[in-house]
Amino acid sequence: MGFGAAMRGAFALRPGFVQLNHGSFGGAPREVLRAQQALRDELEADPVGFMVGVPERLRRVLDQLGPQLGARGRDLVFVDNATTGVATVLRDLRLRPGDRLVTTSHVYGAVREILAVVAARTGAVVEEVEVPFSIEGPEQVVAAVAARLPGARLAVLDAITSATGLVLPIGELVAACRAHGVPVLVDAAHAPFHVPVDLERLGADWWTGNLHKWAFAPKGTAVLYARRDRQDLTPLVPSHLQRLGFPHSFDWSGTKDFTPWLSVPAALRFVGALGVERVQAHNQALCVEMAELLSRGWGVTLPSPASMRGAMVTLPLPGVVPAEAAVGLQRRLHARGYGVVCTPFVGRTWLRLSAQIYNEISEVEALARVVEQELG
Ligand SMILES: Cc1ncc(COP(=O)(O)O)c(C=O)c1O
Repeated sequence: MGFGAAMRGAFALRPGFVQLNHGSFGGAPREVLRAQQALRDELEADPVGFMVGVPERLRRVLDQLGPQLGARGRDLVFVDNATTGVATVLRDLRLRPGDRLVTTSHVYGAVREILAVVAARTGAVVEEVEVPFSIEGPEQVVAAVAARLPGARLAVLDAITSATGLVLPIGELVAACRAHGVPVLVDAAHAPFHVPVDLERLGADWWTGNLHKWAFAPKGTAVLYARRDRQDLTPLVPSHLQRLGFPHSFDWSGTKDFTPWLSVPAALRFVGALGVERVQAHNQALCVEMAELLSRGWGVTLPSPASMRGAMVTLPLPGVVPAEAAVGLQRRLHARGYGVVCTPFVGRTWLRLSAQIYNEISEVEALARVVEQELG
């Protein structure tokens, strides 16, 4: 099946709305939503029969998903989102006053808050390593982070940064952490099915990634991976299965809607039928095209090399738009039917675009004109 406009009907997007922001909250295809509704119907037809079978079913789903992420199913647990994955690990660590928690200046806002809460409770100290933006290459990230690793208690590193849309050299970063004996938690909120993931090979202590962004699963679906020697982990909400230990202790945290997690096989079928590599190659190529079109049209320099981008690009707006303008501009563009991210970072407003199989370059041409009008 062809991509672009031909794909729009597979998604529930409002007609006329130009969605160039798959990155923020993903978008589940209609067929995945139908599969989820069928699961909800099954649940309501026999609530007890359904719920008692949930933990075993979740294990089967994770056994199916695991190989696609280079992991065994039993090294993975479901969590509602990457924020929960990060909080689970950070709140479980026994930290001491003065422990250094190293992250980068591109860390996601909610993760920065979790680090601050944990630091305030334990006396640990958060260190944000300055990673430049504009950036020329991945070696700048590795050099900046590696210099701060000696003696650190933990590193919290992004696979793909949020505001700046950078694919960080996570393999090299994890290797540097291991070389310094520093445990590492990878915030891979954007990574699953956006870029290739091979967890066993990566060797991070913990890794969490959303399936409700680029893996086409319903909202509230993410996984947390723990390396075999790092599975002494307690869920944020311990419950009936706590005594079974990892991973089973995570398979029930009280009554909730498990249908997003159980819909993962439908999402895997959707993307599998299209071809995971084909989807990634399409999105990356379209993203390069989008970036070049806007940088040429607006006469702005791209702040990252294509080798550090996947299906998202963050670039300057024409003229220097102050950071305070970000919220208002994003709202105005949304009101005019364009879903994009306008984000403040290092003192100015940037535009972040995502490329997905339902997008076309003509949408970005139209967006460029609307942005120019809005900025007057
Ligand atoms: C790097 C990063 N970490 C964490 C998150 C949080 O994801 P969620 O809201 O699904 O928990 C995001 C969301 O975009 C992100 O980009």
